[in-house]
Amino acid sequence: MFRNYYLLIIPLKALGFFFAFFSFISYFENLFLGYAMKDKPHSRRFFLKTSMAFAAWAAVPSTAKGFYVDKEELKMMYPLKISINKKIYNLPADTRTTLLDLLREKLDLTGTKKGCDHGQCGACTVHINGERVLSCLTLAATVHEAEVTTIEGLANGDQLHPMQEAFMECDGFQCGYCTPGQIMSAVACVNEGRTGSVEEIKEFMSGNLCRCGAYNGIVQSILKVAQA
Ligand code: FES
Ligand code: FES
Repeated sequence: MFRNYYLLIIPLKALGFFFAFFSFISYFENLFLGYAMKDKPHSRRFFLKTSMAFAAWAAVPSTAKGFYVDKEELKMMYPLKISINKKIYNLPADTRTTLLDLLREKLDLTGTKKGCDHGQCGACTVHINGERVLSCLTLAATVHEAEVTTIEGLANGDQLHPMQEAFMECDGFQCGYCTPGQIMSAVACVNEGRTGSVEEIKEFMSGNLCRCGAYNGIVQSILKVAQA
């Protein structure tokens, strides 16, 4: 929500400027009127006003450029080493970047889909060290030296993974948007041994939503691979 919070700096700095301006007016009023009225200018109120004025003035940037904070300067980069689909990548990653954004935006591995971006739909499922994980909830910096497999890395060259074959044979998809996540979860579901019954498969695939309602085909695909 506050990803662009640096924009708040501009109104805050402007506020600081006006505060300093009015405090200075107060300072001179106190100084001159105080003398004119033979009042003591060095009262506690005088001290507070003047010190606040100088503090506010110091907070105001001395150049127009100082009002702007370069978005790039806010980035903290992490030297990430990661294996994706058996290929090693060494790249600097913004510490705020999710694994999903790294895959899609930086590495052009767009097979992994962004559905909700909030851990609700399962479209972004990938494997990290053999376990299924929601890449939209995983910061890239936390998978340093990990082994990531995406839908692009599931096939063996031109030979599709048995789960990919099964999805095609059993009509496990319609529009296909949820399918990469479904397949990655389905492979993990089989590896985890959670295929004892249709109910068990449904339970352990419940984190993957399909708007097209291809659930029957998905369950049949998983059963087919599990029983092969
Ligand atoms: S995009 Fe990650 S769970 Fe929906
Ligand atoms: S096949 Fe369309 S959302 Fe699942």
